[in-house]
Amino acid sequence: MTDVTHKEALSGHKKLERNVTLLGAVALVTVAIGGIVEIAPLFWIDNTIEPVEGMRPYTPLEQAGRDIYVREGCYTCHSQMIRPFRDEVERYGHYSLAAESMYDHPFQWGSKRTGPDLARVGGRYSDAWHVQHLTNPQSVVPESVMPQYGFLASQPLDFAHISDHLAALRRVGVPYTDADIEQARQDILGQADPDVAPGDLAERYPGAQARDFDGNPDEVTEMDALVAYLQVLGTMVDVNAAAAQEVLAGERGR
Ligand code: HEC
Repeated sequence: MTDVTHKEALSGHKKLERNVTLLGAVALVTVAIGGIVEIAPLFWIDNTIEPVEGMRPYTPLEQAGRDIYVREGCYTCHSQMIRPFRDEVERYGHYSLAAESMYDHPFQWGSKRTGPDLARVGGRYSDAWHVQHLTNPQSVVPESVMPQYGFLASQPLDFAHISDHLAALRRVGVPYTDADIEQARQDILGQADPDVAPGDLAERYPGAQARDFDGNPDEVTEMDALVAYLQVLGTMVDVNAAAAQEVLAGERGR
């Protein structure tokens, strides 16, 4: 740059710096360009969540268990999102995919980890372990600071309004069918009460497991629902297959 053009450029900038209105207007244009670059693409991609095979809505029993999880404030100590860092993946398993919480209203990602992340705790322990641990965590892990939730085993599950609950979830985008909503109460019994046949539960909710979760076959308790929920966490998606799908999606350039 020669001396003359250098000076010209500087004087142009001087004008900008000394005129508040002009500086404001130019700053607005600059920020707007950044904003448009970030926001505009969201209007053209049809969905910001990659669909992943295996994801299904929670069964009514699992959903009722999830409500107890929220009611008891388990999220104040437990997160449900494994971040893609080596230490987390080695401890908890494959990092969480966005699609795995697409039916969670509200999601339970959390940011507090007094206890371990629970996103993939499903199937890691037996039902009996969970009942024992929830009843008296210190009997399993002596130094645990987790509170005791034994009362859940003596509280019958209140599921009088479960159909309305599923209908409300459908309104916010969870794809429950009319049959799911109509049969919700029957589905709870079919999944948790060994004396009631599960019917077509496993067809409408692939992979749903029907059994007595709390070790007390006589009634369906809040413990049944909570353990059913814990046991399904992170088990719906075959994560390795999902990872392969992600690579493919990346290659398609989406
Ligand atoms: C005050 C904090 C706190 C609260 C509230 C809490 N937990 Fe925990 N939780 C912990 C801690 C600490 C551990 C690790 C020690 C242990 O296993 O008890 C733990 C462990 C667990 C584990 C075992 C996880 C693993 O991978 O080993 C499960 C399952 C669990 N909690 C479920 C729950 C549920 C369900 C609730 C709500 C009903 C709950 N926790 C509420 C602190 C808490």
